[in-house]
Amino acid sequence: MRKINALVIGGGGREHALAWKLAQSPLIERVYATPGNPGIARSASCIKPPTSTPEGYLAVAEQVRAELTVVGPEAPLVAGTVDLFRARGKRIIGPTAAAAQLEGSKVFSKAFMLRAGIPTARAVTAESLDTAAQHFDEIGFPLVLKADGLAAGKGVIIAPDRETALDALTKLPPGPVVLEEFLVGEEVSYIVVADGERVWPLEATQDHKAVFDGDQGPNTGGMGAYCDGHILTAAQSDEILNLVIRPALAQMIADGTPYTGFLYAGLMMTAAGPKVLEFNARLGDPETQVLMHRMQSDFAATLLDGAPITWRPDPSVCIVMAAHGYPADVRTGDVIRGLSATPPGAIVFHAGTRASGDAIETSGGRVLGVTASGATLPDAIDRAYAAVETISFDGAHFRRDIAAKGLKRW
Ligand code: AMP
Ligand code: GLY
Repeated sequence: MRKINALVIGGGGREHALAWKLAQSPLIERVYATPGNPGIARSASCIKPPTSTPEGYLAVAEQVRAELTVVGPEAPLVAGTVDLFRARGKRIIGPTAAAAQLEGSKVFSKAFMLRAGIPTARAVTAESLDTAAQHFDEIGFPLVLKADGLAAGKGVIIAPDRETALDALTKLPPGPVVLEEFLVGEEVSYIVVADGERVWPLEATQDHKAVFDGDQGPNTGGMGAYCDGHILTAAQSDEILNLVIRPALAQMIADGTPYTGFLYAGLMMTAAGPKVLEFNARLGDPETQVLMHRMQSDFAATLLDGAPITWRPDPSVCIVMAAHGYPADVRTGDVIRGLSATPPGAIVFHAGTRASGDAIETSGGRVLGVTASGATLPDAIDRAYAAVETISFDGAHFRRDIAAKGLKRW
């Protein structure tokens, strides 16, 4: 069988996990990443794109003769990278720019869910920050305010009362704002691979969005995740597929923008069933780190040929080590020590790192995703934290309760 080259677009922890997994595939000759990072460079050849645009990524794909390209972050999707690759006859995993609007705009996404009959929080859309306060009482308090556009996890404010909500209006970027009811329950990340019509569900995962233990403090991109096969029952997974995923794909077809690639439903498991908090047009970060770590089957075989996905029984846990100041003013340039002494069985996915001479130093907010598995969830947690203890950099901080919310199911 002829092996092919694969290209991963992006340079964070999610892309490190993707490159690491694809590099293990017997179908893949060589993995490239653009731009990649020093961790990814252990599994793939990293190439700086001439420009961070669809054309720039296409130039890299052509240069390395990639016959499979996987897009990590949302920005290249919204910019039309998938559209351009397809127009040139190049295979790429991801949604078109039109379909990626599901993530790019909260207003679009809310209207879409209503159209498709997908369960979600009750909401009203205000055309601008100026008119938003008129609608507060239609929803009541606590009130969730969501800025319309991509905001890197910073566009959502939960206001317990009117005063906080009014204050939120001074902090959100100008433009339309979605006001919605506050939902109570456990959050679950439910991600599928879709080819327009068919779906390959990935195992459910849980992220930890708040910066401090006990879900306290401001939201981040995600401080850790786990995947243990216990988060949802088979009946709950079926319910999500039937109430959320299949109606979403059917509506995308009806709207003339069939959905291909990774569809990520951020769900609240409420007493009244699953409700969608948001859709993302991509894999989650750090969810992907535990998904790739726990996936037994060849992911390239799924992406290329639709092969079924199987999972190892052992749970995987990923602890994010973040830089000084994250998620506010991030300090970079701190030297990372201990990267070559990771205990066997653990893997350190790089996110915000860069090479500086012979050293690796911090270059972003989320620096590393320290990932390990164990025979049980408590065992996996212990192993992941034991690996964290072997790594250090000035200002490093991480949550000490990653995956603790899963323990009640063991
Ligand atoms: P989003 O970007 O819409 O997923 O919102 C970011 C985070 O805010 C979510 O992961 C939740 O933790 C929280 N959140 C968003 N919408 C709601 C809601 N309606 N009720 C409760 N929490 C919410
Ligand atoms: N970890 C949350 C996200 O990727 O959106």
